[in-house]
Amino acid sequence: MPADFEAMWTELAPIGRDASTGGYFRQPWTPAEGELRAWFAEAARARDLSLEEDAFGNVVAWWESASSSPAVLTGSHLDSVLDGGAYDGPLGVASAFAAIDRLRERGFTPERRLGVAAFAEEEGSRFGRACLGSRLAVGATTWTDARELTDRAGVRLGDVVAGADSPSPLLRGVGTYLELHIEQGRALIDRGAPVGVATGIWPHGRYRFDLGGRADHAGTTRMADRADPMLTFSATALAAAQAAAEQGQRATFGRVEVRPNGTNAVPSQVTAWLDARADSPEALAELVGEIEAQAAARAAGDGTSVAMTAESVSGAVDFDPALASRLSRLLGGAPLLPTQAGHDAGILQEAGIASAMLFVRNPTGISHSPAETAPTADCLAGVDALADCLAELTGAAS
Ligand code: HGY
Ligand code: MN
Ligand code: MN
Repeated sequence: MPADFEAMWTELAPIGRDASTGGYFRQPWTPAEGELRAWFAEAARARDLSLEEDAFGNVVAWWESASSSPAVLTGSHLDSVLDGGAYDGPLGVASAFAAIDRLRERGFTPERRLGVAAFAEEEGSRFGRACLGSRLAVGATTWTDARELTDRAGVRLGDVVAGADSPSPLLRGVGTYLELHIEQGRALIDRGAPVGVATGIWPHGRYRFDLGGRADHAGTTRMADRADPMLTFSATALAAAQAAAEQGQRATFGRVEVRPNGTNAVPSQVTAWLDARADSPEALAELVGEIEAQAAARAAGDGTSVAMTAESVSGAVDFDPALASRLSRLLGGAPLLPTQAGHDAGILQEAGIASAMLFVRNPTGISHSPAETAPTADCLAGVDALADCLAELTGAAS
């Protein structure tokens, strides 16, 4: 008898967890993520699902069917951000296995192949490109380009995964993707609904700012004689927050590297990464343009240099509207809501695979944090909703 949702959740809880913060470090192709891959394979084996892995580290557990109809895929990702929460990603994977258990308990047999996916490096927390595994799977990123991506230790992606010069065979014949995910916001708690359906994803991107200055002595160098990139960075971060607030968008500098990072030396270099998101491609371009211009203006006054490089850009996503409203109706009028968070479902939608997302209520809205949580009752409501939707999508009438 395979483990039920709560037992699976208990199995997952300690994997990659930092005892000092309670957060998760489940970066791709690390020992912790390797344990998650082993967990996934065991969950598949316990359900007689056939495991298929591609050259990019993506994996699918298939409930096989003799039907030649387009397959339905569910699942999510297992990797986390640095010091992340337990739910972002793994909730969708564990719920997918639990939904299959529900369907079998009901005596349901799908009329088409039904797979549970775990896409690699969705967070881009190691190699810097969001949804890297699903982008490679659909060919939105080529292997030639991606294999040279490096992590903070200089390890190349090509050194940790085989890669291939063609899109993944995993998605061959897949007609629909349905991803369950914890909501990363407060819309459902504010509406009193346990489950919602996504309408789309805001366009967003990650931009690296290389700020060059002049190393110097912190004591003997007069303030007027400095070219201090830390001042350029600080002014840029404040300008970004102000521009985003004024324009109703999002801008975050969550990652900064300072060289030489000494206490008594003016830094020679500051490298900072901007995460910018907006409700339209035009608004995103305007926001990033404004921030880049503010950085350049400040650099001119500081005597520093500034160069901005887009490292990862995700366009606006409109999920398949007919599918979203069909699932909302099926779920008794579940709320339809946009998200500012990127997902593999967005990549598959943009690649032409009709995709949808179910959101499970997040009582605080907090995510990308050890404090991320969802009550078991809402998680189980999500499993039931997912099972209902999968039955709808793979049943005889589908
Ligand atoms: O960053 C995001 O939007 C997502 O959580 N990967
Ligand atoms: Mn995330
Ligand atoms: Mn996620």
